[in-house]
Amino acid sequence: MSLSSDLVQAFGQRFGAGGRLFRAPGRINIIGEHTDYSEGFVMPAAIDRACLCAAAPSPDGVSRIFSLNRGGDVCELDPARGPQNDWSDYAAGVFSALQTAGVSPVACHIGLSSNVPEGAGVSSSAALEVSVLTAVLALSGIDAPRQQRAAWARSAEADFVGVPCGIMDQFISVSGLAGCALVLDCRTLEARIAPIPEHAAFAVIDSGVRHQLTDGGYAQRRAECEDAARLLNVRVLRDADLISLAEGKLSDTLHRRARHVITESQRVALTATALSQGDLSEVGCLMNASHHSLQNDFAVTCPETDQLADLARRTPGVYGARQMGGGFGGAVLALCDRERAETAVESILEDQERLAGRRTEGFVCTVGAGAGEIMP
Ligand code: GLA
Repeated sequence: MSLSSDLVQAFGQRFGAGGRLFRAPGRINIIGEHTDYSEGFVMPAAIDRACLCAAAPSPDGVSRIFSLNRGGDVCELDPARGPQNDWSDYAAGVFSALQTAGVSPVACHIGLSSNVPEGAGVSSSAALEVSVLTAVLALSGIDAPRQQRAAWARSAEADFVGVPCGIMDQFISVSGLAGCALVLDCRTLEARIAPIPEHAAFAVIDSGVRHQLTDGGYAQRRAECEDAARLLNVRVLRDADLISLAEGKLSDTLHRRARHVITESQRVALTATALSQGDLSEVGCLMNASHHSLQNDFAVTCPETDQLADLARRTPGVYGARQMGGGFGGAVLALCDRERAETAVESILEDQERLAGRRTEGFVCTVGAGAGEIMP
């Protein structure tokens, strides 16, 4: 059975009446990593893997939730109890963010089912938050612009779950467009459409190394960026450049962190130009440069993703590859020639198995639309 029919059936078994069905996608990020929380530029695209959310108003005013990815048991959802340190916090955080903003959502019965891989850098958590948000707003009869929706979903993760993430993942899950990436200015939240050329395809290849953004490495990098900005006398690194960096007196570590953020935002602009010209070789080179900067300056890669990106680059049909997402593991994103993408993924997975002794998952993405209701 399909993801949606399984969910509808499970929802009916637990809550009686059938609910309305919503979806919110995971994402890839072509380039612009660890720049969003410094108000820099990113270039994400939504993918056709999504978190589905079935939802109906709760008849007794108590919100309840289950997830088919977590055994399917129903639990109460009460943000007033604070974080429970489990998956349901991402949903409770949505209610909490809305209440903090003075919006009163109706109590809901919610069922979730997702095929966005977890911990693989494709933002399964944003997909969950945005799917719940989309459902709760619709059931409550509340309309809001996409920037506001993204900010509420981000607040669920940053303020309730406690991961000080940027806005990229929630923004693209709300706003994705089929066949297009967005060049997002994380200061103004203005987004420019960047169509993906017909002959390009993006593949996500999991390293099998699991990260948890709650582990602390992510928060540490963010704090380092804030320290670097302070020492450079700017509010955020968006306002620094390579000249002010050269003139500043930063420690070697902070110098490298700032250099990554500054050069990575520049690479987003260069990638947008190359993509609009259909120059996939140039986009591939920029993705490789992004990986090296994440590896050497920002220090968020690991031996497994370094090796995987390297393998991918040596595979026929691949233009470039880099680690994607929060880092410390997760997946590598490879830009491929569309015709050869499936073969390239198979060959990368085989090479990885031969060299590292473990077989992981990989898939060619279809770039899909942002969140919405699935009409029956
Ligand atoms: C995670 C965060 C994003 C972003 C990326 C790194 O996915 O949720 O906000 O910071 O890491 O680019």
